[in-house]
Amino acid sequence: MTTMRPISAPPVALTGLLLLSISSLASASAAVLGIDFGQEFIKAALVKPGIPLEIVLTKDTKRKEAAAVGFKPAGNGKEGEFAYPERLYGADAVNLAARFPHDVYPGLKKVMGQHVEDDSVAAYSTRNPAVSVVPNVLRSTVAFQSSSAPPAGYGKGSFTVEELLAMQFKSIVHNAEALAGANTRIRDVVFTVPAFLKAEERSSLKLAAEIAGLKVMSFVSDGLAVGINYATTRTFNESSPEYHIVYDMGAGSTTATVLRFQGRGIKDVGRFNKTIQEVTVLGVGYDTELGGDLFNQKIFEILLDDFVNNPKAKGLLEEDPNLKNTIRTNGRAASKLWKEATRVRQILSANTDTIASIESLYKDIDFRSSKITRAVFEELLAQYEARITKPIIDAISNANVALSEVNTLIVHGGAVRTPFVGKKIEDIMGGAEKISKQVNPDESAVLGATFKGAAESRAFKVKEIRTQDIGTFGVSIKYKKDAEAKKGM
Ligand SMILES: Nc1ncnc2c1ncn2[C@@H]1O[C@H](COP(=O)(O)OP(=O)(O)OP(=O)(O)O)[C@@H](O)[C@H]1O
Ligand SMILES: [Mg+2]
Repeated sequence: MTTMRPISAPPVALTGLLLLSISSLASASAAVLGIDFGQEFIKAALVKPGIPLEIVLTKDTKRKEAAAVGFKPAGNGKEGEFAYPERLYGADAVNLAARFPHDVYPGLKKVMGQHVEDDSVAAYSTRNPAVSVVPNVLRSTVAFQSSSAPPAGYGKGSFTVEELLAMQFKSIVHNAEALAGANTRIRDVVFTVPAFLKAEERSSLKLAAEIAGLKVMSFVSDGLAVGINYATTRTFNESSPEYHIVYDMGAGSTTATVLRFQGRGIKDVGRFNKTIQEVTVLGVGYDTELGGDLFNQKIFEILLDDFVNNPKAKGLLEEDPNLKNTIRTNGRAASKLWKEATRVRQILSANTDTIASIESLYKDIDFRSSKITRAVFEELLAQYEARITKPIIDAISNANVALSEVNTLIVHGGAVRTPFVGKKIEDIMGGAEKISKQVNPDESAVLGATFKGAAESRAFKVKEIRTQDIGTFGVSIKYKKDAEAKKGM
């Protein structure tokens, strides 16, 4: 069992970036894991005595892991016997999709806690045409039929979304335990979550963590987590608070969070006064679908058009007038196109044009696109202009703070690197000087969440930062159609 002992020894003051001091009495097992579980990437950080807040590296020493798990058939099973497949994670799983698209599961964040008939599940199936969604036998939430799942007869089983998430978390724990060193068993975890995540989605995430043998200490909203990380190296004034907006655009969603940072003098034990830092969420605004994935779709369609209009595909088009749709729903071709679309889009953030190239895209035809320019891509993005800034406008209005009072907008998330997005947020904030790039856009949220976990665990002595989140999430209640029909009778 993990010890959560209050410290009794005087804290050791640490200076420097982390401002995290660790009790000499803390048990060696008092490790806390922070996980930023994103639509496309999982970032993790660890704190334990002797390790003052560090990013958990993947087995390939990367600082983030693609949020995917996949199975490679064992190939050596005897007739009629179940053979355990090889299980792959992260980039290895994503790469497997070109060969085994029916058994690779990326981006599960969008379907956790959802019912099979929900729109987000239909969108998931469109995006991953080869996977087979089935209802979880107990709850009609999402499961996937998989020949790699043993229980219900050989090759006829299914994995629930929570089981697939648990496998990914388990792999993260494995990496974290490698960092923590011998005899450290990691149990306590803090997750960052979007502020809009509903109760059933949180439950699904919690269940997945439990299956992985973890205990969820708390959920912290993405924006607040970034705010905590921002506050770890700063002190704020009591009489004139600072207001900052955290703008996080990831792969699957965008959230703007208005935060107030303030120092506050309080009475400490005895006759002493001390100053603590406060980070308060005043308002949020969000778009649950706007992010890198939506932009990828634009490039995906450009590539698809280009391929079907390519002279090499002429014969195919004559055979199949619906060729575009056939490719969209072909697991292998679709996964290759998505992967290249993501790559092309990221290149267009740094370059004004590029060329896509895919080996054996469909029916053994290699594809080399014509030139794709940033200008054309941005024409397609123009339709999202209002959606890019709306979370900021909503957050400001919910927080009841004027935009002129906001000191800076702190950017977080991979998709803020899209120049078009950068320009729009600069425009609404009134210039580049209002955009703060003071935090690491990939790691700030996970570092803030892990810091919070260290503070909550009481095995560590950390800089005192009081936080106040707001719960914007609701619960959705669904009635089965036949139950409704009966009610109406
Ligand atoms: N240089 C770049 N230019 C444009 N987009 C980029 C760049 N680098 C990464 N991205 C995009 O950022 C997204 C991933 O960002 P991030 O890791 O913040 O998302 P996430 O946390 O997985 O998703 P979410 O927060 O929505 O759950 C992807 O869509 C990726 O294509
Ligand atoms: Mg994210």
